[in-house]
Amino acid sequence: MRVAMIGGGYVGLVSGACFAEFGVSVAVVEADPARLSALREGRMPIYEPGLEKLVTSNVAAGRLTFGNDIGAAVRGAEAVFIAVGTPTRRGDGHADLTYVYAAVEQIAAAIDSYTVIVTKSTVPVGTGRRIAEILKQQRPTVEVDVASNPEFLREGNAIGDFMRPDRVVIGADSERAREVLQRLYRPLFLIETPIVFTGLEAAELTKYAANAFLALKITFINEIADVCERVGADVHDVARGVGLDGRIGRKFLHPGPGFGGSCFPKDTLALVRIARDAGAPSRLVETLVDVNDTRKAQMADRIVAACSGNVRDLSIGVLGLTFKPETDDMREAASIPIITRLVDLGANVKAFDPQGMDQARPMLPASVTYCCNVHEVAKDADCLVVITEWNEFRAISPGFLRDVMAGKVIVDLRNIFDPSAMRAEGFTYVGIGRPESVRN
Ligand SMILES: NC(=O)c1ccc[n+]([C@@H]2O[C@H](COP(=O)([O-])OP(=O)(O)OC[C@H]3O[C@@H](n4cnc5c(N)ncnc54)[C@H](O)[C@@H]3O)[C@@H](O)[C@H]2O)c1
Repeated sequence: MRVAMIGGGYVGLVSGACFAEFGVSVAVVEADPARLSALREGRMPIYEPGLEKLVTSNVAAGRLTFGNDIGAAVRGAEAVFIAVGTPTRRGDGHADLTYVYAAVEQIAAAIDSYTVIVTKSTVPVGTGRRIAEILKQQRPTVEVDVASNPEFLREGNAIGDFMRPDRVVIGADSERAREVLQRLYRPLFLIETPIVFTGLEAAELTKYAANAFLALKITFINEIADVCERVGADVHDVARGVGLDGRIGRKFLHPGPGFGGSCFPKDTLALVRIARDAGAPSRLVETLVDVNDTRKAQMADRIVAACSGNVRDLSIGVLGLTFKPETDDMREAASIPIITRLVDLGANVKAFDPQGMDQARPMLPASVTYCCNVHEVAKDADCLVVITEWNEFRAISPGFLRDVMAGKVIVDLRNIFDPSAMRAEGFTYVGIGRPESVRN
């Protein structure tokens, strides 16, 4: 079986490599010349654990190729996946479908026999129908079906999520399209992965609804963390007590500085627009977008308050820049508003991230100093801030910080440190939802 994957980013590259691992022949088409030459030279343009090995072995086996010629990739492919970006459109919150429709035009020009065109990109409800219309207009004599197969992988665990997903959602109206996709996903069917067949609209909406629900869980526990701080409760106790209820579940109940990343912010915004346009506005989703934006903006104030109300000329060390660990993705990361505000207030910020510093540079103020390790960040810092919970930060000992830092303030926006151990070394420790009075 042959498929084409348009877009070699997080989703296209991971999905393409995983389909190749299933034994399928996959042609990945990537438009960005730098990304393409990296891929052709065996260098990964993104950081994702396990990806390089998977790509290398499938390229060596001849099942995975990279190119920029959509025509060559599409001709003879049974399914063509669109995995291009759908960022927020400037000004109105809608998903920007420019890349999707540009890819559709190119696909339309190239197809020559029955093909299933599949949106793997997260696209607003109605996009699949529109794509079908375009294809029909441009190639009235070629048989095509359009399907929606939204992707639920998480960056940082993308291969595991793709190979062992909770479910696969396939939205298609024709039996023929369903058969092609069922055959492609047969290895997952064999390990009893639920395959949810739906109509096009339901599949498109499922992706937005799932992301909004996860974003809602995060936003909810963040608000509960705020309450905890006021009433003297530890949010981790509350989250555990709540999450052990099987109806609720323990995942996504970790308080922090507000969600970021390549998906939740743009997908919640897009769902707000989709719901409004459909005449069924979602007040819940609109509110969560607002609450999360406010929270991210407020996090710098928490750091300023921990530094006795003034950060001017203070040396502030920041650990972690990416929106979450195990990725180099900086899109909508909480570090961006936090560091920008600290710099505006006159702080000298130095930072370290295990994977994200190259991506961070163009997004952060020019005055930020980038360090090579934890020691450089902590050395002579007046205040240390944890923004992303990379595992290597968890092992940092209070004694080490006491010896290298100039000041005594720790702001731990991911609650990775033991507050009592920090306080025992004389630090002012500020976490999230963990008031001073609370036992640890
Ligand atoms: N990143 C995630 O964790 C994730 C998870 C699930 C779903 N999604 C969705 O998947 C889609 C892609 O996300 P991503 O993070 O992989 O984006 P990305 O920006 O990392 O990758 C998109 C790639 O497509 C390429 N591209 C654009 N137009 C092209 C064209 N006409 N031909 C060939 N290549 C083209 C770009 O150069 C880029 O490399 C989005 O809709 C996103 O919402 C992302």
